[in-house]
Amino acid sequence: MTEKDFLPESYENLPTKGKFTWKAPSNIALVKYWGKKPVQIPANPSISFTLDACATTTSVTFEKKGKAGDFSFDLLFDGKPKEDFKPKIHTFFERVQAYLPFLKGYHFIIETSNSFPHSSGIASSASGMAALSLCLLDMERGMVPDVNQEYFNTKASFLARLGSGSACRSIEGPLIEFGVHDHIPGSSNLYGIQYPFKVDGIFKTFQDTILLVHKGEKQVSSTVGHQLMHGHPYAGNRFQQALQNMDALKPIFANGDLDGFIKLVESEALTLHAMMMTSMPYFMLMKPDTLAIIHKIWSFREATQVPVCFTLDAGANVHLLYPDHVKQTVHQFIDEELAMHCENGHYIHDRVGLGAKKINS
Ligand code: PMV
Repeated sequence: MTEKDFLPESYENLPTKGKFTWKAPSNIALVKYWGKKPVQIPANPSISFTLDACATTTSVTFEKKGKAGDFSFDLLFDGKPKEDFKPKIHTFFERVQAYLPFLKGYHFIIETSNSFPHSSGIASSASGMAALSLCLLDMERGMVPDVNQEYFNTKASFLARLGSGSACRSIEGPLIEFGVHDHIPGSSNLYGIQYPFKVDGIFKTFQDTILLVHKGEKQVSSTVGHQLMHGHPYAGNRFQQALQNMDALKPIFANGDLDGFIKLVESEALTLHAMMMTSMPYFMLMKPDTLAIIHKIWSFREATQVPVCFTLDAGANVHLLYPDHVKQTVHQFIDEELAMHCENGHYIHDRVGLGAKKINS
């Protein structure tokens, strides 16, 4: 599908007022998206597990205005006005308005909250942009007859991408691919797709414990990090490597090859951070406790042969990935060895999930 396929033809029955609520999960990339072209076109394909517990719930209440003017909305986070989120939403409205041309005719009240603690260092842009896109698209669904579910999900992913690239992987689950790859049929730079190849059942029960090493704001945003891939000395090789890793994942997923999975996923995480450390200006988001945790994971895996590995987002927190059947052993390892490296001992047990859900409002 191209951009044109997301332009609505005409609307019938514009509603006077109403409300929609959606809950959308976060996701964790296995092959990382780092580097983009305008507007939110990824420099390489990526793939993520959709999460379950870490999610954003957003309600959009709308009322038709007397006459269409500029965008008009109030934003509440945890029930309180949140002015500093508004510019991001305004930019999002500007980017999506061609695809949702009713936006300027309404006043919106956007109420949003996260299941994970505020400023836990977990990025809420993916889940937040996915939930907001779903609410707005649900509103459009009432004005356009015969929208099928597949088109709805694809357009939701397309809109979410315009808010935050990785958000396009938060509409469905359990494994979502984003970005053109010649060997992945249906792959697109415009939206995420269900990973189209065989995936062994073991990957559908994967657990992700997020070890909260640092809960504060990051010193360098992912927007800036993406930009620093322009003119980066290793960018070309990195994008090639991501393409190869997507190919390498195919037999890993099909055969339930946990050793192959661990090697590839940990290498991707460290490569992402290596790109940050070799950017100009250079920066580093890992903390001493991030490294301490990584070394303990390696020692534990060596000693026990338990298939547990880590990945990293653009931050200091560590995502611990492991199959469901080793949960008890890994939870004991976390409590005894890893929690001491987390801020206030905090971590979040999450797992692979199936995507966003509509909440009756
Ligand atoms: O969606 P953005 O622009 O915040 O970029 C996400 C970048 C990473 O989280 C580091 C990697 C990824 O693929 O999710």
